[in-house]
Amino acid sequence: MSEILKDRKILVGVCGGIAIYKACEVVRFLTKLGACVKVVMTNSSQKFISPIVFSTLSGQKTYTDEDFFKVENGKIPHIELARFSEVILVLPATASFISKLASGQANELLLATLLATKAPVYLFPSMNVNMWENLIFQENLKKLRNFGYLIYEPFEGELACGEVGKGRLPEPSEIVEVVKAHFREKSLKGKKILITGGPTREPLDKVRFLTNASSGKTAYFLAKEAYYRGAEVHLVWSFSKTLAEFPKLNYFSDIPYPKVYEVSTTKEMLDVCLEIFPECDIAIFSAAPCDFRPKIFYPGKLKKTEKLIIEFEITEDIAKTLSQIKKPYQITVGFALDEPSKLEEYALFKKEEKNFDFIVANPLSTMGKDVSDFTIYTSTKEKKKLTNFSKEHLAFHIFELISKEVFKRSNLC
Ligand SMILES: Cc1cc2nc3c(=O)[nH]c(=O)nc-3n(C[C@H](O)[C@H](O)[C@H](O)COP(=O)(O)O)c2cc1C
Repeated sequence: MSEILKDRKILVGVCGGIAIYKACEVVRFLTKLGACVKVVMTNSSQKFISPIVFSTLSGQKTYTDEDFFKVENGKIPHIELARFSEVILVLPATASFISKLASGQANELLLATLLATKAPVYLFPSMNVNMWENLIFQENLKKLRNFGYLIYEPFEGELACGEVGKGRLPEPSEIVEVVKAHFREKSLKGKKILITGGPTREPLDKVRFLTNASSGKTAYFLAKEAYYRGAEVHLVWSFSKTLAEFPKLNYFSDIPYPKVYEVSTTKEMLDVCLEIFPECDIAIFSAAPCDFRPKIFYPGKLKKTEKLIIEFEITEDIAKTLSQIKKPYQITVGFALDEPSKLEEYALFKKEEKNFDFIVANPLSTMGKDVSDFTIYTSTKEKKKLTNFSKEHLAFHIFELISKEVFKRSNLC
């Protein structure tokens, strides 16, 4: 379970748009992550979906305009809902709803709640492309943006009405990521971070190469976590099955969208790191670079033979090379992978050899898996055991430690 969303109080306002089915998934995901989710539906939205669906998915009462004037024990529904909310999401936010909100109307439960709240409000508009481009609508949106509403723009693509253009509501998983990012403390604002990830590839001939089973997932979750904490992220990334996609927080914040550099060989990864590292405050080496490469590259396709002997040479050691130019204020984190019986000794040796501030030890079985056991050895020689942790959860803990270290060092200055 995501610690960050546990017991968070989230209000989801649902309007009458065709993308309403995605709101069901968002409510389901947020609830599964431990959040307390209340839903307020507009009248039109109930023509698409019954409130029963949201009540079942959230495990809470779903509010409609029928509740607007039901004042019980002096509790006024829109005021109670406004006070309950730590954050409010409106999805899909229809053109009509945005227009009413922009003119300050409060004659429906959802509108009155938005006017009565001090909580941040995220609007996820979704509609036909011509409605989206309509100048009256765009003027309303601009007005709301200027008033501090957080507007997450729709995607371009094929729309439910059959037309193609801007207007698609983002996928539910992406909306949930925006909420996760919302609740992260921006503890790394202004910090520049280098993260390496994925396996490198060392070519043997034009079609064959040496690589390993790394999925790149750890690096992806680390990059996401750093981004959500406000850092400027540089992800040096190679041949990963995981897609390096992130929610677009730059729609409403000045956090830069992560920069992804795609590389192939260990040497290419080192060259890019050498350019970025000197300006970085933090570097995390979570890639699985190939330690060997064929000494000779065959510039075609090797033909089948009875016997093939390949000579290998050692590749560049990225973390060790960068440790030689590491400045005292830079924080570096490494990873050690080995058999459980040799892991601690190897991790401590590698931490020393590469001058890491933290090292994460993980067993060989971690490769490609979503969940594993990890041990983090800290700069104060403490040992933090994380058993049965997802890589996303691991990333959260690594950045909790890094954030504390950054805070400690800034207080020493
Ligand atoms: C089938 C259908 C689909 C609709 N889809 C959308 C939509 O995706 N976005 C939108 O802004 N309006 C859409 N509308 C129009 C809204 O339902 C209409 O403007 C309604 O009054 C919105 O009310 P509400 O904002 O109070 O929920 C759709 C209408 C119909 C009949």
